[in-house]
Amino acid sequence: MKTQLENIYENAKNDLTKASSINDLDDIRAKYLSRKGEFNEIKKGLKDLPEQDRKIIGALANEITQKLESTIKSKHDEFYKKELDIKLQGEKLDITLPGKYVPQGHIHPLTSTTNEIVSIFQNLGFSVVIDENSPEVETEYYNFDMLNVPQDHPARDMQDTFYTKIAPNVLLRSQTSGAQIHVMENKKPPIRVVSPGRVYRNENINARKNNFFHQIEGLYVDKNITFGDLKGVLNEFIRLYFGSSRPTRFRSSFFPFTEPSAEIDVQCIMCDGKGCRTCSGTGWLEILGAGMVDPNVLKGVGIDPDVYSGFAFGMGVERLAMLKYAIDDIRLFFNNDVRFLEQFK
Ligand code: PHE
Repeated sequence: MKTQLENIYENAKNDLTKASSINDLDDIRAKYLSRKGEFNEIKKGLKDLPEQDRKIIGALANEITQKLESTIKSKHDEFYKKELDIKLQGEKLDITLPGKYVPQGHIHPLTSTTNEIVSIFQNLGFSVVIDENSPEVETEYYNFDMLNVPQDHPARDMQDTFYTKIAPNVLLRSQTSGAQIHVMENKKPPIRVVSPGRVYRNENINARKNNFFHQIEGLYVDKNITFGDLKGVLNEFIRLYFGSSRPTRFRSSFFPFTEPSAEIDVQCIMCDGKGCRTCSGTGWLEILGAGMVDPNVLKGVGIDPDVYSGFAFGMGVERLAMLKYAIDDIRLFFNNDVRFLEQFK
C-alpha cells in the first residue's frame, strides 16, 4: 500500500510539472484529491488494515496529500499571477488619455423662456393651467364664440385660422385666449392663472412671424379689479423680465373680448429703436395684448359682471425671447440648427 501511495504521488508530481494552467491544476486536483480521486480510494481501504499499519499508512497518506495540496496551491498562485498579467497586458489602458465626449442635451430656449415667464407670474400669485384646460385642437366655440368674436370677424377667415377636416367648427387654436373660457367654466372667482401653449396662424412667414408660435395667456378675475391692476402687474412683469432698462410703451388697441384694450411694445433690441428688418422699421416689437375682460365674456360663463371684473393678457413667447437674447429671426427657433441652440446651454 505504501508503494501504491508513493507511485500515485510520483504520478501526481509528474502531472504537476507538466501542468501549465489553472485548468490543468483543477484536473489534477480532481484526479488525485477529490472525493473520487485516487488517494481517497486508498484511504477507503485503510479500515481493513491492522491498527498499527493503519496509523503509519494513514499518516503517510495525509502527508502526501498535504504536500500535493500545497504544491497545487503555490502553482495555482503562480499561474493566477501569470494569467492575470497576460490579461492586464491585453486590456492595458492609459488613464491619462482624455475621456470620450458625451454630448449633453439642454432645454430649448423657448421652453426656458416660457419657464422663466411662468415663474415670474407664479411669484406674483398666479397659478398655471395647461393641456386639459386649453387644448391645441379647439372648437370655434372656445376660440371665438365665447370670446365675443362676431361670426363675421375677419380673424375667423381661412386666411388666419387653420380649420381642420374633423368637423366644420374644429380648428387649430389661433390664440391661447380660449383657456380663459375653460378656466372660468371650471372655477369661480377669485381666479388668477397663466396658461402657456402653442398657437397656429396662417401667416406669411418672415423674420417676425411664423405659422405657429407660443403664447402665455393670463387671467385675473375678482371683485374690484381695475385697469390700474392690469398696468401694475404687467409693468412689474416687464421690469422683472427685462430689468428696468428696456423702454416699453402702452398703446390702446382693440380685442373683441376685452374693453378697454391695450398692447405693449418693447423697443427693438436689434436697432435700439432706429428701425430694422426685425421690427420692420418701426423701432418697436409688440409683445402682448391685454385688456379688461369684456362683460359679455363674463356673462357667457355665468360670472356676474356687476360683481366681478378682471383683466386678461396674452404674450408672445418668441418675441420675448428674441428681445431678451437679441435674436433677429423667429425662424431660428424652429430650424433646429445646433449652432444656434447650443448658445442656450
Ligand atoms: N389673444 C390675443 C392675441 O392673440 C391677445 C390677448 C389676450 C389680448 C388676452 C387681450 C387679452 O392677439
